[in-house]
Amino acid sequence: MPRVLSGIQPSGQLTLGNYIGAIQNFVKLQETHECFFMVVDLHAITVPQEPAALREQTEAVAALFIAAGIDPNKASVFAQSHVAPHAELGWLFTTLAYMGELERMTQFKDKSSGKDSVGAGLFVYPTLMAADILLYNADLVPVGDDQKQHLELTRDLAQRFNQRYGDMFTVPQPYIPKVGARIMSLDDGTKKMSKSNPNPASYIALLDPPDVIRKKISRATTDSGREVKFNPAEKPEVSNLMSIFSHCADLTLEEIEARYEGQGYGAFKKDLAEAVVSKLEPLQKRYAEIRSSGEIHDILKQGAENVSVIAHQTLREAKERMGFLLPR
Ligand code: TYM
Repeated sequence: MPRVLSGIQPSGQLTLGNYIGAIQNFVKLQETHECFFMVVDLHAITVPQEPAALREQTEAVAALFIAAGIDPNKASVFAQSHVAPHAELGWLFTTLAYMGELERMTQFKDKSSGKDSVGAGLFVYPTLMAADILLYNADLVPVGDDQKQHLELTRDLAQRFNQRYGDMFTVPQPYIPKVGARIMSLDDGTKKMSKSNPNPASYIALLDPPDVIRKKISRATTDSGREVKFNPAEKPEVSNLMSIFSHCADLTLEEIEARYEGQGYGAFKKDLAEAVVSKLEPLQKRYAEIRSSGEIHDILKQGAENVSVIAHQTLREAKERMGFLLPR
């Protein structure tokens, strides 16, 4: 079975963007692939995290994976910091990467721009991500559009290693949804919906109560005009809402256009809010059950146990090829 790996940072509330861009595909791929899904806590600390919040969010993200439909009997769900080889292989790849290629990463540029001091971890972040993926020789990596550049770097690093030390790593492919790869902010159709946006009205959190969701959608910015038409260049805000609708109500963009022809934005936004609420309600209910049962700790333990053998084997082989004297 081909392998899939992906991860999500426990650095704030997960949003509908994370769900549509990534988690929905995790759930789909677990039926046909050997899957590894991680809560990437080592990545989260590339910006300061309050310790109690980091612990809480790590558990919350893992519980959201399960609540969204990831079956721990089909996929391995684990915390990155529970499997030590991630950090060690990450270091090996940091030494293979060039400053220039890391400086070109748009996510680094966005996160560091205008800041007086920028953590070194934020700069080398993509080499740890490469290690995450290559440790398991993943074939496919389901992510949203914003991670494409990191995936390209991962491919380059895999090829660089293979050239220097002999073929070892699988060069992975990104798996990006056609519609919804970049869900935009509700208050600005030119910015990505993000859990780190200080304005909570700009995103829908997966755990937002129904009334909050309704309010956020009714206040979402819409383009001038009143036609419900998919045209990201000219109508970015309505097109974004249509992408969300398409995923939540399982309708094509054409079906949505036909349904709201001549009706303006009002009816469309009302139905959209109900579609999002219905999509998230079962997830929220399962989430509450999972959190109160405490089962997430066993799931994470089992997940780390499942993947550890592969991770240690890969790390050992990489070290051997690079010339480390291995303990006998
Ligand atoms: P993170 O935690 O920022 O986001 C998790 C996933 O959600 C996707 N995503 C979106 N998709 C569509 N629209 C949006 N507005 C949106 N916002 C976020 C992201 O593309 C991502 O797929 N570097 C990664 C985490 C990571 C990782 C990995 C991913 C670490 N190691 C190995 C894959 C494989 C990140 O920061 O994602």
